[in-house]
Amino acid sequence: MDKKNVLVTGCSRGIGLAIAKKLIDEGYFVVGTSRSKIDLANLLGSDNCLHQAVDVSNEDDISSMIESLTKQDIHIHCLVNNAGITKDQLFMRMNSDDWNSVINTNLNGVFYLTKSLIKSMVKSKYGRIVNISSVAGLMGNAGQVNYASSKAALSGFTKSLAKELASRNITVNNVCPGFIESDMTKELSDAQIENALQQIPLQRFGTAEEVAALVAYLLSDAANYITGQELSIDGGMYI
Ligand SMILES: NC(=O)c1ccc[n+]([C@@H]2O[C@H](COP(=O)([O-])OP(=O)(O)OC[C@H]3O[C@@H](n4cnc5c(N)ncnc54)[C@H](OP(=O)(O)O)[C@@H]3O)[C@@H](O)[C@H]2O)c1
Repeated sequence: MDKKNVLVTGCSRGIGLAIAKKLIDEGYFVVGTSRSKIDLANLLGSDNCLHQAVDVSNEDDISSMIESLTKQDIHIHCLVNNAGITKDQLFMRMNSDDWNSVINTNLNGVFYLTKSLIKSMVKSKYGRIVNISSVAGLMGNAGQVNYASSKAALSGFTKSLAKELASRNITVNNVCPGFIESDMTKELSDAQIENALQQIPLQRFGTAEEVAALVAYLLSDAANYITGQELSIDGGMYI
């Protein structure tokens, strides 16, 4: 296969943008999505991409995007389910909206998009799926019952789907970042940062580029024999 097409959700900033940049450098054609409209070609410095404004928690949005890609004859070989949100709150104060919006984006969004692409991957007997989970899904985190639940569910999703699809040469893996420098962690107070650093043996936050390098590896032929795995990239936080 010469040039592969990859769909990266949540590519307008942070980890998703770093993943899109890395994959452009590696020669992929990138279909990037986010709710906000962005000039992805300008952000990536490449015309080897297109952007779709899509809310991953909206199944109709996803169906329209897939229809549009099919019309343009763009077959997606690789999928990176990166879009995610937090709505942190102590459980006592967490309301249904805090719960539903996080589950709808972080978990249902992965279901809708993966489901809409899986038939064509099965047909072509090739597919690479990487979900961006979180160390919170492995360890739990006070104030993040909704977020940790959505990410922990990706573990079962990844392992079960990997078993279903391995015979079709489709791999499914889960990347679990710890604290990564991004808009999501910019909201932390100095005390929260200090507390986080005390839990990280490598004593620093990771970078989006480090996560992107791991995702690029999992999509590459070098990782053809890796499936159903959860790979932590967290400076040793979850040992
Ligand atoms: N940063 C960390 O420390 C960290 C740690 C562990 C895991 N993660 C995970 O890594 C992923 C990326 O995080 P990040 O730190 O890069 O977050 P971020 O800077 O807040 O970026 C999130 C991206 O997702 C998009 N997005 C959010 N909701 C969406 C929706 N409903 N539909 C489509 N796109 C949506 C956003 O674009 P729009 O707002 O324009 O839609 C944006 O592009 C997330 O899944 C997060 O849970 C991050």
